[in-house]
Amino acid sequence: MFEFLPLATEERVQIDIDGASHDVPAHMNVAAAMLSVGIDVSRTTPVSDSPRGPFCMMGVCFECLVEIDGVPNQQGCCVQVRDGMHIRAMRNRPVWNALRKDAK
Ligand code: FES
Repeated sequence: MFEFLPLATEERVQIDIDGASHDVPAHMNVAAAMLSVGIDVSRTTPVSDSPRGPFCMMGVCFECLVEIDGVPNQQGCCVQVRDGMHIRAMRNRPVWNALRKDAK
């Protein structure tokens, strides 16, 4: 479904996604890099824990939210990969879990 444009660079970077190392083209954004290695779930919804993945690829839908280098809620489609980047899918209902902790 996806093809590289002929102008794409040959440079590649090493990134870590959920603990696994991947070699991806340096020109990609995080969401594209995740899709290119077969990861199509970037987050789950806070209440129902339903899986969500990149949809618009242009910063509008917020379905691509991931944690990048320890900073949560980053739009993966708006951040270019760089060597050594650590990416984590945002799962396990972070909002719901936070609310439950506050309720104690
Ligand atoms: S894929 Fe829609 S905001 Fe990133």
